[in-house]
Amino acid sequence: MKLLSMNEIREDFPILNRKINGKRMVYLDSAATSQKPVQVIKAIEDYYRNYNANVHRGIYQLSVEATEAYESAHDEVASLINANPEEIIFTKGTTESLNLVAYSLGNRIRDGEILLSKMEHHSNLVPWQQLAKRNNLKLKFFDLTDDGELDLSNIDELINKNTKIVSLTHVSNVLGTINPVKEIAKIAHENNALFIADSAQGVPHIEVNVKNLDVDFLAFSGHKMLGPTGIGALYGKKEILEEMDPFMFGGDMIREVKLNESTWNTLPWKFEAGTPNISGGIGFGVAAKYIKRIGIDNIENHEKNIVKYAYDKLNEMDNVEIYGPEKRSGLISFNLKGIHAHDVSSILDESGIAIRGGHHCCMPLMEHLGIAGNARASFYIYNNEEDVDTLVKGLEEVKRIFK
Ligand SMILES: Cc1ncc(COP(=O)(O)O)c(C=O)c1O
Repeated sequence: MKLLSMNEIREDFPILNRKINGKRMVYLDSAATSQKPVQVIKAIEDYYRNYNANVHRGIYQLSVEATEAYESAHDEVASLINANPEEIIFTKGTTESLNLVAYSLGNRIRDGEILLSKMEHHSNLVPWQQLAKRNNLKLKFFDLTDDGELDLSNIDELINKNTKIVSLTHVSNVLGTINPVKEIAKIAHENNALFIADSAQGVPHIEVNVKNLDVDFLAFSGHKMLGPTGIGALYGKKEILEEMDPFMFGGDMIREVKLNESTWNTLPWKFEAGTPNISGGIGFGVAAKYIKRIGIDNIENHEKNIVKYAYDKLNEMDNVEIYGPEKRSGLISFNLKGIHAHDVSSILDESGIAIRGGHHCCMPLMEHLGIAGNARASFYIYNNEEDVDTLVKGLEEVKRIFK
């Protein structure tokens, strides 16, 4: 396999040529959504130009082509995480994937406890709160250490015979913490609980092998891994998915319908009711293929280097508070003391630098940290050291303005 050079990678992303306020654009918000390579953009255009038709329905040429492309996208995504294609359900994204599990699986749970953590994104918190209310379940939370890692000191107490579900973020979108999901999943299973990983910030950036991790479900989003918006996936172990009730009902997800009863389609289609996001699915498949071509190890290494470079530079600056552990995925959140994160990002925007400021959909984590929000620079394959240098210069300018 050919290893792409940095320049070759950047050339695949036409948006990186944009100027913002007359300046070279520096995009540091890939944790919110990544940019898209031409391969993905072209695949979507190709579908609409050349073989737009519904899937799983027609027996004419266009529909056969669309069905083949949509189904083989499931294969591409499945192979990226070492799953079987029938275990990959296409959804709108991580949020829908987690809602699907919380609803379909959760509805059967009539007593017991759900274990989450204080670093969860709202999409791995609010659906469980709703389930807990509906079925009178108890929510429990891992606390965090001062470094921003899960506090595992009382894990034997937290995971016990009453625990039914443990659902944790694989990689924190604020702290960059990479959680030991494999080890926690093992303890969950020893207690007959199911383990769910929110891998929205995992699959795009680090190697994820669902068989090795032995998680029961894993949720992720296409748009954070070079694919289009409105598409993502839920991985689920086949034997559990087979037993689970569908989340939505209607066309495509049925085997046979009579006036008063119906039976369900095979996996994964049982969970994909109605006309799916065909172009999104096809683009998602191409994105997964692109990541495999570059190699997830190369992506992980590249981000490790760039985040270390950024961490060291930010650490050298005065009045910067960095959140999260030193060993982290490719993002850094921080505050410039006394300056609101929104002011930081809007001043950086004047220099063409895009970073996110706010609570990052993690309000309980912000409360835990005792802050209203922070600024976050997040990196991906197309970022380089020049981007970090521009960020540091921009931050010096913010500090100068607020002096
Ligand atoms: C850790 C984490 N979980 C879940 C989500 C939700 O993803 P989506 O909005 O694509 O459904 C995000 C998005 O920022 C995230 O970072």
